[in-house]
Amino acid sequence: MSKSSETPQTNPLREGLATRAVPQACTVVIFGATGDLTMRKLIPALYNIAADGELPPAMTVVGFARRPKTDEEFRKEQEEATRKFSRQTVRDEIWNGFAQSVFYHQSEFHDAAGYKSLAERLEKIDQERGTGGNRLFYLAVAPDQFEPILKNLKEAGLNKAREGSWARVIVEKPFGTDLASARELNRIVHQAFSEDQTYRIDHFLGKETAQNILVLRFANAIFEPIWNGRYVDYIQITAAETLGVEGRAGYYEGAGALRDMVQNHLLQLLCLVAMEPPTDLGADSIRDEKVKIVRSLRRMKQDEIAKNVVRGQYAEGAINGKPVPGYRSEKGVKPDSKTETFVALRVRVDDWRLADVPIYIRVGKRLPKSGTEISVHFKKAPPVLFNKEAVSLDQNVLVIRIQPDEGISLRMQAKMPGTSFRIEPVKMDFHYGTSFGKASPEAYERLLLDAMSGDATLFARRDEVEEAWAFIDPLEEAWVAKENQPGLFEYPAGSWGPEEADELLARDGRAWRRL
Ligand code: BG6
Repeated sequence: MSKSSETPQTNPLREGLATRAVPQACTVVIFGATGDLTMRKLIPALYNIAADGELPPAMTVVGFARRPKTDEEFRKEQEEATRKFSRQTVRDEIWNGFAQSVFYHQSEFHDAAGYKSLAERLEKIDQERGTGGNRLFYLAVAPDQFEPILKNLKEAGLNKAREGSWARVIVEKPFGTDLASARELNRIVHQAFSEDQTYRIDHFLGKETAQNILVLRFANAIFEPIWNGRYVDYIQITAAETLGVEGRAGYYEGAGALRDMVQNHLLQLLCLVAMEPPTDLGADSIRDEKVKIVRSLRRMKQDEIAKNVVRGQYAEGAINGKPVPGYRSEKGVKPDSKTETFVALRVRVDDWRLADVPIYIRVGKRLPKSGTEISVHFKKAPPVLFNKEAVSLDQNVLVIRIQPDEGISLRMQAKMPGTSFRIEPVKMDFHYGTSFGKASPEAYERLLLDAMSGDATLFARRDEVEEAWAFIDPLEEAWVAKENQPGLFEYPAGSWGPEEADELLARDGRAWRRL
C-alpha cells in the first residue's frame, strides 16, 4: 500500500485484503532498549506478533543501549516485562523460540565504534539468520538523542541498504515542540534517511477503530451522502484518561495536553473523520487527503483563542473514590506550573464538506473515566410529525469508540412498546469483541508489522506533522503572551474538566457527551 520506491510484496491471504503488504525478514534494532517503551510496548508487541504466527521466522531483534549486559540478561529482563505487559499470556514454548532471536548490543549513542561493531554484527546476523540485509532502526529515545544516533548510523553506512534490501527508521514522538523544532528534527532525520525510509509513529493510528473509520466511511454506501454540513450538526472528539502525569513530569511539564495529545493523536483522528475519499489506498493517497484537512483548519487570531480554547489543570480530587494529589503536587512538577493537563477546543475545517460544522475536541488527564471516542451528531428531524411536540426529539448520533470496548453505535428514535405513543432513543451497537470474537491487536503490533512491510499508511508524513504544528503554535504562543493571556482553569481530579469547557459548548446550545 505504500507509494515508496520500495515495492512491498503482497499476500492475498493476510487479513483478507489483497493489497495488504507482507512483513519481510529483517533485523529490528531498538535504540533505548532498556527504556520503558521497549519493555512495555515494543518487545511485548513483537512477542504477540510471533505468538499469532505473523512474524517472519528470521526476524531478529537487537537491543542497543548504554548499560553493559549479556544477551541472556537482556532476554531475561525482557521476558519479565513481557509477562507483565503482554496482551496475551506468555506461553513458555513461544517465548523460548522468540527469545533466541533477541540480542543485545552495548554502546554509547555517540560512540562511532559502537556503530561500526553494530554493522559487523548485523552482517553476521544476515548470514546466520537469513535477514537479507533488511534493517529497521527504532528510535525509542528522547529527541535530543536522535542527532548522534542518526549521524553515527550514516557514518557506519547503515542508513543505506544494499541492492534488493531496505533500511528504514521509526521515529517516536514527541516530534518537536513547535514548528521550528519539528522542521529541525526533520532536517536531522533527512540527513541520514529519505522520507520514504522514515516512519513517524502516531500510535493512535494503529488502534483498530481508528483504522476502521475509513472502512466505515468508504466501504458503506449509506454514510458518505450524509457526511457533510447539510446533515451533520457538529462533531465531538474526546480522549479522557483517569491517569495523571505518572512520573513523566520531566517531559510533560514542557509539553502539556495540547502538544502531548492534540497536535498528533487528536488531529490525526480529526483528519480521518473529515478527509475526502482518497483516489486509492496507497499510503500517499491517504496522507495527501489527511494533510489537506490540517491545512484547512481555520487558524485562530489572538482574540479568538480565548473564545475557542479552554485550558485546565487538575487540582486534588478523587479517582474511583481514592484521593489523588493535584498536578502541582506531583513529583517533578513546579509548584506554580502553568502546564495544562486538559484542553478543550472548538475548531473549524474550512472546506466544502464541513464548512459549517463545529468540531469540539477535548482531552484531559485525571478525568472520571478513561475512553476515546468520536461522535458525529446529525441534524434533528424537521419540526413536523413526531418532532413537532413541545419536547423535541434527540439527534441521531454515530459514536466511534476508539477505546475501550472498541466499536461503533448509532443512536436513533424508536417507539416504546405499549399502547401509548412514546418515542425513546435506542442504540444499534457493534462491539469488536463480540462480533469478531477475538481481541484487537495492540497498536504497536500493527505498526511494527507495517513498517516491516514498507507500508507507511499509518505513519505521519513530514508535511502532516509540520502543518499540525503550524496550527498549534499560535495557541501555545497566546498562552505565554504577556498581554491578554487566556486563563488556565483548575478542575478537581475526577471531574470532567473546568466549567469553562462546558460553557464553550453551552454558548452554542450544546453539551459534551458523557462517556
Ligand atoms: C501518549 C501520551 O502519546 O498517549 C500520553 O504521551 C497518553 O500522555 C497516551 O497517556 C495515551 O495513549 P493510550 O493508547 O494509552 O490511550
